[in-house]
Amino acid sequence: MSVGTATKPLLRALAGEIVVPPPWWLMRQAGRYLPEYRAVRGRVRSFVELCLNPALASELTLQPVRRFGMDAAILFSDILLLPYALGQALDFREGEGPVLDPVSDRHGVARLASTPALPRLEAVLETVRQVRAALGARTALIGFAGAPWTVATYMVEGGGSRDFRRVKGWAYRDPRGFGELIDLLTEATTEFLAAQIAAGAEVVQLFDSWAGVLPDREFARWVIEPTARIVSEIKRRHPDCPVIGFPRGAGVLYERYVNETCVAAVSLDTTLPADFACRKLGSHVALQGNLDPVLLLTGGDSLARAVGQLCHSFAGMRWVFNLGHGVLPETPPENVAALGRLLNSSLSA
Ligand code: CP3
Repeated sequence: MSVGTATKPLLRALAGEIVVPPPWWLMRQAGRYLPEYRAVRGRVRSFVELCLNPALASELTLQPVRRFGMDAAILFSDILLLPYALGQALDFREGEGPVLDPVSDRHGVARLASTPALPRLEAVLETVRQVRAALGARTALIGFAGAPWTVATYMVEGGGSRDFRRVKGWAYRDPRGFGELIDLLTEATTEFLAAQIAAGAEVVQLFDSWAGVLPDREFARWVIEPTARIVSEIKRRHPDCPVIGFPRGAGVLYERYVNETCVAAVSLDTTLPADFACRKLGSHVALQGNLDPVLLLTGGDSLARAVGQLCHSFAGMRWVFNLGHGVLPETPPENVAALGRLLNSSLSA
């Protein structure tokens, strides 16, 4: 066993150890709240170009770790790079978010299925190699992908959505046809994650940001089933690489998600009560989360109090400190520095 792996606090917690103070990293720890991100962002025209430039993407991956000393770096990329690599037109517009050329039927799926995605993602894998080579002995590298359901919502809606009527409508009307899209994404996601691990990612996270909008039957079919297939194949190929699942908004269905997908750890959204997580999930998997990102934006005593409460609630559990969702762009960087100090202080001991 390599000494580096054994001493990384994040990997120890994900392998089942209770680590004090808890290892920490933040979803969306790279991004617009950092002036050094905005400086790099200003050098290229498009966000996709940024993700496909290994020198710049490596720099952005390392920026928050350098500034705040998190226990993990998360690859700088985006969940929508996969549909892009499958041939779907993608643009990120200022103030509008992602815009995709919508896929709405089996013909659209067949067109995408004829494009092998991995060759177009080679630049992302090169970023993984460069970051891994640059990281210190205590910092783990997290790779990631969107889970099939969440990626499908953007592909079918053509961007973000309020009520998901197109993607749900297709899934209800024509589950076989929609299932072909989910199957395509399940396979492509597995290959992409396995390639990230081969390139040097030590942990992978599956972001299912819109898992919470499905009724339980559909949750089982479009969230649990594909996730279970991805996890089982990653375990077969890379048995030492933990998979963290993030079924945001799943509520009581978190329990089924954990039991049926066999993830090594689960990321808790902001609304999931800590006592539910500890009682129902904590004996099966490591827990991650779940500070409200608005508290990190707010800072001060309310942040300190909430961090103290979380440390108390998760004491004695396999736990990784994180937010319940991504860092908000307006967050003062000083609050993230303060969070790092709080976690290393007596509050968590
Ligand atoms: O966490 C990190 O620091 C690593 C990089 C990362 C990004 N996106 C960079 C990004 C990760 C892990 C993601 C995941 C992601 N992307 C998710 C899942 C997590 C979540 O937030 O629910 C989703 C749904 C997306 C899709 C996406 N990408 C949207 C909806 C948007 C626009 C809205 C927004 O938050 O900016 C993006 C753009 C994006 N992805 C930016 C960054 C840094 C901002 C681009 C810019 O304007 O500079």
